[in-house]
Order: sequence, then C-alpha cells, then structure tokens
Amino acid sequence: MAIPSIQSAILLSFLVLFLGPYLQTAKLCSCSDDHKVGNCHSIERLALLDFKKGVEDPSNMLSSWRLDNEDCCKWHGVGCNNVTGYVKELDLNTIKDLEQTTRLRGGISPALAQLKHLKYLDLSENYFEGRIPQQLGNLSHLHHLDLSNNRFSIQELQFLYHLTSLEYLDLVAILNFTTLQSLDLSATEIQGPIPKAIEQMTSLKTLRLGVNDLTGPIPDVLANLTSLQCLDLEHNHLEGPIPLSFGAFCKLKELYLSRNNISGEITEFVNGIYLCRPNSLLEIFNLGHTKLTGYIPYSLGNLKSLRILHLQETSMNGAIPKSLGQLSELEFPDLSLNAWDGELTEDHFANLANLIGPLFPSWLRNLNQLGIIVLENIGISDKIPNWLASFHLN
Ligand SMILES: *[C@@H]1O[C@H](CO)[C@@H](O)[C@H](O)[C@H]1NC(C)=O
Ligand SMILES: *[C@@H]1O[C@H](CO)[C@@H](O)[C@H](O)[C@H]1NC(C)=O
Ligand SMILES: *[C@@H]1O[C@H](CO)[C@@H](O)[C@H](O)[C@H]1NC(C)=O
Ligand SMILES: *[C@@H]1O[C@H](CO)[C@@H](O)[C@H](O)[C@H]1NC(C)=O
Ligand SMILES: *[C@@H]1O[C@H](CO)[C@@H](O)[C@H](O)[C@H]1NC(C)=O
Repeated sequence: MAIPSIQSAILLSFLVLFLGPYLQTAKLCSCSDDHKVGNCHSIERLALLDFKKGVEDPSNMLSSWRLDNEDCCKWHGVGCNNVTGYVKELDLNTIKDLEQTTRLRGGISPALAQLKHLKYLDLSENYFEGRIPQQLGNLSHLHHLDLSNNRFSIQELQFLYHLTSLEYLDLVAILNFTTLQSLDLSATEIQGPIPKAIEQMTSLKTLRLGVNDLTGPIPDVLANLTSLQCLDLEHNHLEGPIPLSFGAFCKLKELYLSRNNISGEITEFVNGIYLCRPNSLLEIFNLGHTKLTGYIPYSLGNLKSLRILHLQETSMNGAIPKSLGQLSELEFPDLSLNAWDGELTEDHFANLANLIGPLFPSWLRNLNQLGIIVLENIGISDKIPNWLASFHLN
C-alpha cells in the first residue's frame, strides 16, 4: 500500500521507532457472548451506517451497507468474529482499482471507535480527508492500521499512543508531517539519538521528549523547527553543547534541557536570542542539573520576558551580573549549588518587582554560597524568617 520511497521509509522508521516499545502480540478476544453466529450486533451496525453517512461513494461500493440488510457481517469489507459476531475487520482498501473510480471520499466518523473489537482496519487508497478522529485511539485491540494514501490533514497524533496492540502501521502519504503542530512523547521510553524524522516537522510549536533515554548530542538541525515555542528535552542523557543554531529560535518561549549532560556555555545562545526582533519571547530557561560551564552573560538581562531561570547545580561560576535586575518578569531564579562569587547588591534586584517584597523573598535561601547580601529599600515588610536567622554567610 505504501509507495516505496526514501521519504516514506524514513517516516515509517520514525513511527516504528516510537511505537516500538508498545508493539505487542494482540491477545485473542475471549469474550463470551450469546449472539447468533454471523449475526452482527446492532450497535456496530449503526456505527457502520454512521460511518457510511460521512462518505461519498460514487461507485456504490457500500451498496450492501443498509439498515434492512441486517447481517452487517456480510457487508462489503466487513469481517466479524464468527463466534462473538463482533466486527473484527474493516477492509475498504481499493488497491486493485487502478482506474481509481471506486474510491471513497469524505471524512471518517468517530463512530468507528464503537467497533471495540476491531483488529484490522484498512482504509488505504481512498480520498478520505479532514482529521483522523482521535477516538480511534480507543480501539485497543487494533493491530493492523493502514490509512495510507488518503488526504488527511494531521495536526496531532495523540491517538496513536493509545493503540497498544498495534503491530502494523502505515500512515505513509497521509501524514504530511510538515503540518504537525504538537508532538508529546514524554516518558515513553524512547531510546537512542533524537530521531531524524523530527527535522521534517517544520510546523511544530511544541516538542516534548522529556523523561526518556535519549542519548547523544542535540542535533543542530532541530533549529530548522523555526515555529517552536516549547522545546522540552529534560531528563534524558543528552550531551554536548546547546547548538549554536538555537540562538535563532526567536519564537521560543520555553526551553527545558535540565537533567542532561549538557555542557559548554550559555553565552552564544543568550546572545543569539537577544538579537531576536523586536525582542526575545523566552519565558522559561531551565538548564539546572547539567554540566554547563562559564558564567552568566550580562546580556541575559536583555531577555525581558524571562520568568523562570533555573541554573541550579551546574559547573558555572563567576559573578552574577547586575543585569539580572532588569528582568522585571522574573519570578523564581534558582541559581543554587554553583560556585558563584562576587557581591549581590540592590542593582541586582532593581526591577525585580515579582521577586521582592512585601514578604521576604524565599528564593534568598538558595543563595547560601554568597558572601554579602544587601537588602536595602526593597519594600519588605515582614517578620525576619527563621531560615534567614540561621543563614551562614561566608
Ligand atoms: C471461524 O473462524 C476461524 C478463525 O477465523 C476459522 O478457523 C473457522 O473455520 C471459522 N468457523 C466457521 C464456522 O466459519
Ligand atoms: C475512549 O476512551 C476514553 C478514556 O478511556 C473514554 O472516556 C471514552 O468514553 C472512550 N470513547 C469511546 C467512543 O469509546
Ligand atoms: C505538506 O503541507 C504543506 C503545507 O500545507 C505543503 O506546502 C506541502 O506541499 C505538503 N507536502 C506534501 C508532500 O504533500
Ligand atoms: C535545515 O535548514 C538548513 C538551512 O536552512 C537546510 O539547508 C536544510 O536542508 C534543512 N534541513 C532539513 C531536514 O529540512
Ligand atoms: C552523564 O555522564 C556520566 C559520565 O558519562 C554518566 O555517569 C551519567 O549517568 C550521565 N548523566 C546523565 C543524566 O545522562
């Protein structure tokens, strides 16, 4: 069904890669049921008719699909379990129709999800369009899914992650990955390098691959995903520096790389983002628990949208730049467990409206490596907290 091509091979290997951990042998349905052999269940008959309602059928391929033709197990393309009567197979593939005159057109009704015992679904070689109903994710017995060579437009693939029995999947030529906007495969036991296929998903706004076993460097070409607003790769085993090209991520709002073996400095990235016009949108910069080195560049103070800054437990050092005081949106800088030196003065807090007063800022607790803390004219009216009294200044 798939047209062999390098591109489709890449797409398939991507999907197989991601579904790999889930591919299991489908269990035979052991349902006991008192329905007559070969007599379909009325709820499934109605679901099939609902599906038919949504399609144009110029060649009358579905002429046997009628309410008065009660035994839906004998309908064209429908196969039932001969003991339970449940529909287990729906095959409307028109591969043999070289003239393409019998193809079905239209959308796929979510009613298909009522065929709960479906194991085999082949709708390939038609002109189905629109979205693939996410309800298909409820077909937990499905082990063969072929939707290839249709005209679907795909915005999300979430339903696939529920199809835990899937052994065969062909979405080639329907999945124009260039339109996929969100891919969340967090905590799905993905191993190895970041899959190359992701580079083609150039409309992605959200990419979450956190809490997996990804290894190797962060590929430079990820920067081709110029629409990215949220990139979450935290809690993997990625190593090497933040790619230089990341400085061009001008739409990026959230970057999570914490808990990886990321090394190198953040200066090039920060300077790159600073050059975004009219200004940087970066709100969350989470790179704690990494092997970053170097110092915090003064230019960090130019990232005006920054709300959350996590650089705890890295190998960074040097003085914390006063420009931090210009970050008026900053809510919670966690810079603990680094070898900072130098002084913190009121300049550091000049515009940190969200950070200071009227209560004592609890984030001060993180600054236990600092020698001098100056807290003047910053509008605190609060009891001196116990933790401050037991503060050990070096
Ligand atoms: C029922 O189906 C099984 C397996 O699909 C097949 O081997 C068997 O011959 C069928 N029985 C009848 C009565 O059709
Ligand atoms: C699909 O599964 C979800 C969650 O398991 C459930 O809430 C929903 O009702 C199911 N939908 C159908 C059509 O079975
Ligand atoms: C994928 O979709 C984009 C945007 O809709 C379009 O420009 C591109 O030609 C499509 N690619 C394929 C292979 O259909
Ligand atoms: C990524 O972008 C570069 C430069 O714009 C381009 O040469 C390359 O072909 C792109 N890679 C992919 C996989 O689209
Ligand atoms: C980082 O690298 C060290 C040494 O190779 C390894 O022991 C550690 O598990 C790695 N940490 C992560 C989060 O991958």
